[in-house]
Amino acid sequence: MLWSQIPIALHMTTHTTQPLLESRRIVITGGAGFIGHHSVLAALANGAEVLVIDDLRHPAPTALPPEVELVDAELATEHARAAITAFRPDAVLHLAAQGGVIRSFRDPVADVEANVRATVALIAACRDAGTPRIVFASSGGALYGHADVRPTPEDTPKAPISPYGLAKHTCEQYLALLGGRYGITPLALRYGNVYGPLQDGTGEAGVVAISSLKLLAGAPPEIYGDGMQTRDFVFVGDIAEANILALASRASGAVNIATGIATPVKAVVEHLIEASGSELEIVFHPERGGEVRDSALDVHLAKSVLNWAASTLLSEGLRTTFTSFQSSYGTPQEYPAPTSGAQHAPVAEHAAP
Ligand SMILES: NC(=O)c1ccc[n+]([C@@H]2O[C@H](COP(=O)([O-])OP(=O)(O)OC[C@H]3O[C@@H](n4cnc5c(N)ncnc54)[C@H](O)[C@@H]3O)[C@@H](O)[C@H]2O)c1
Repeated sequence: MLWSQIPIALHMTTHTTQPLLESRRIVITGGAGFIGHHSVLAALANGAEVLVIDDLRHPAPTALPPEVELVDAELATEHARAAITAFRPDAVLHLAAQGGVIRSFRDPVADVEANVRATVALIAACRDAGTPRIVFASSGGALYGHADVRPTPEDTPKAPISPYGLAKHTCEQYLALLGGRYGITPLALRYGNVYGPLQDGTGEAGVVAISSLKLLAGAPPEIYGDGMQTRDFVFVGDIAEANILALASRASGAVNIATGIATPVKAVVEHLIEASGSELEIVFHPERGGEVRDSALDVHLAKSVLNWAASTLLSEGLRTTFTSFQSSYGTPQEYPAPTSGAQHAPVAEHAAP
């Protein structure tokens, strides 16, 4: 079975029974990607007219619904600017990014291009289109670095320790600065470690997806360090719901979108082993430098500002995710070949490094 044939388990409902984006014109940048795909479906379910702008450098492995217009363009191009000004969106959900911490060290120039330059170009296009609202996908773990306080609240001093984190921090600042000048109200959503169906398990990021694919291929999952390093794992359905609530709200500034719970990476991988019914054992490698030991985000502000809280239990989300991977590939020959990156980078890159 192929990805496109499987039902995607999602929380498509929001906190009210009313569609939150009825007749609203929403641009979703990076809408062809992992979080983008789920967010597009949630926006459609909430009555929005959706335009996706994505240059398809890293799409999720399933097509978007036919009613969604997809403009295949890099954000900093005239093609993207013209599409945005012609569509005149009421709001933009800005997800497009190069999302790898390790990649951002390997190629910091490409990271700036895909993250900072693209974001500034988007803000300028929104000014030209008269768009009053941008919701931006930021990253709590990457922004706060080695935070002393955990769960970490939004007003913690920012101390990014990767080019990726620095880019997110810079984009937030551009949004605040230019947003004020151009009449755009920006809201940064600082996600925890997002996991769920459609995540790429063949690359360098996403311990849940990478471990699931390994287990399905009959290979042992791998962890760098003792596995007791913690992350704030949040299910993609909950993220999509937060994105819709953020688009519908007038809140500005920055809000953590996570669970507030620090879970050891080892516990997550053990859950997946159990879900797979396998007897494989985790292979441990020496700890990698440059990663924070622990990460969890304070989520009180999300509740008060967006009336949002994560509702998917980790055990439930992991089971849903593993099952979706399992039903996507019928035979072992159909499993994507694990890459050397996947073998050597089992801890999600979006986690604070
Ligand atoms: N996945 C996580 O755990 C996590 C955690 C924190 C923050 N985020 C942020 O959430 C957003 C979405 O992440 P994701 O996991 O869905 O990533 P993804 O790579 O699956 O999706 C990103 C999409 O953006 C597109 N894209 C990238 N750069 C572009 C550009 N310059 N112009 C046009 N299209 C471009 C890609 O083709 C891809 O479809 C990103 O901004 C990421 O940094 C993700």
